[in-house]
Amino acid sequence: MREASVYSEIVPHTITAAEVAAKNPAGIILSGGPSSVYEEGAPSFDAGVFELGVPTLGICYGFQVMARALGGEVAQTGRREYGATDVSVTAPGTLLADQPAEQIAWMSHGDSVSRAPEGFEVLASTLSTPVAAFASDEKKFYGVQWHPEVKHSQYGQSVLENFLHRAAGIPADWNSENVIETQVARIREQVGSARVISALSGGVDSAVSTALVHKAVGDQLTAVFVDHGLLRKGEREQVEKDYVASTGVRLITVDAADTFLGHLEGVTDPEQKRKIIGREFIRAFEKVQRELVAEAEAEGGEPVKFLVQGTLYPDVVESGGGTGTANIKSHHNVGGLPEDLDFELVEPLRTLFKDEVRAVGRELGIPEAIVSRQPFPGPGLGIRIIGEVTRERLEILREADAIARSELTAAGLDESIWQCPVVLLADVRSVGVQGDGRTYGHPIVLRPVSSEDAMTADWTRVPYEVLARISNRITNEVREVNRVVLDVTSKPPGTIEWE
Ligand code: XMP
Repeated sequence: MREASVYSEIVPHTITAAEVAAKNPAGIILSGGPSSVYEEGAPSFDAGVFELGVPTLGICYGFQVMARALGGEVAQTGRREYGATDVSVTAPGTLLADQPAEQIAWMSHGDSVSRAPEGFEVLASTLSTPVAAFASDEKKFYGVQWHPEVKHSQYGQSVLENFLHRAAGIPADWNSENVIETQVARIREQVGSARVISALSGGVDSAVSTALVHKAVGDQLTAVFVDHGLLRKGEREQVEKDYVASTGVRLITVDAADTFLGHLEGVTDPEQKRKIIGREFIRAFEKVQRELVAEAEAEGGEPVKFLVQGTLYPDVVESGGGTGTANIKSHHNVGGLPEDLDFELVEPLRTLFKDEVRAVGRELGIPEAIVSRQPFPGPGLGIRIIGEVTRERLEILREADAIARSELTAAGLDESIWQCPVVLLADVRSVGVQGDGRTYGHPIVLRPVSSEDAMTADWTRVPYEVLARISNRITNEVREVNRVVLDVTSKPPGTIEWE
């Protein structure tokens, strides 16, 4: 839907017709699913949705639910169709307009629609499914047995676009420019003349949400960036110089490296490190927050009432599609702000996916190095040094990480790699020979992973030449490192980060 430049929202099948009507949709799509309509407990939904007069497209299971609800028949034929299937288009109509008569579509179903509802025209069939697509132009109801949303369906996107643009008459006008326009108007309405603060982590989400809020309310916004001393090479400069230069955001950097490193002294346990870093982050942020509130009060100006959060749509969907009152996840953006911060949240990215956030970021002129950045954990390099975190070790890791990142980027691998943690095994030493002498240095681990959502991941098959270059450069250029090893573990069983 979004690729067709149409705004869409995912709602659960338990939504009522009245709730759907309240959203005033221009079209409805009933998705596929693994169930049989005959199964006990199969997901049903309020058939009153069909009375709303809204153009509707059923896909796979949604197609069968639709067929049944409108008086057609679904048969348990015992014939299954899985994978690439030949489809014959017999009467294209609006839904299959401008598509070839023979095409390959992706199927995954057991039951089949055996009779279309009264007044519906059958548009396509396959060898084992006589009714593979149907339509009633009059009612604006459409359905396909196959999965148009899957890349392997040759004309899948065209099915969706025909439904959206031709059948439902929805224009293709959802793009990053009007996302910005809409959000800016909303933020202004929400915030009024109050002051806003934002915690910048250097990551994409907080960078884009902060820039959007800044565009909306200008210097009513103050961004706070906590430098905990665990950042990667160049990160602070990127935020302080490039980001500020491109957005004009008023930024306060909290130089908290000494405090963080002091508290981390002697600590080796991963969970303890995370707790300390999380706690100190909150302390640093709250201190600035108090100062800003005091400053606002002293000036007799507007109160500081809002906090910007870079929550994305997948977070919203995962937490059950909740309404406006997001709880702040401990893994979110900036290491988990406490839930009792006395602020209302401003979340301008709540309807967006990551690639859309990046598009908005580019449109706002945020530097590419920030916009295309891969995920980086809030606790930073602190959880990529296995063993105690010290300044010297951070320096070693920072150099090695910068080399790995620059080589992966130069090899054009940024898009195919989800992220590549670079890990220093600080308590491990091995014997090497460098120059003419024996060395006794530390190993660096490369952990390139491919993933959709970081919940599961596979190790990325980075070309050997690229690995060789990274290994050569790190062992040549980084003092103390005499060995580079590759982590070839998927998640599960390994997590992405080592700690
Ligand atoms: P794991 O190691 O759990 O990581 O497989 C999954 C994803 O989450 C990132 N990560 C974090 N992000 N704060 C964050 O903002 C954290 O404390 C944190 N720990 C892990 C990790 O980089 C990966 O993308």
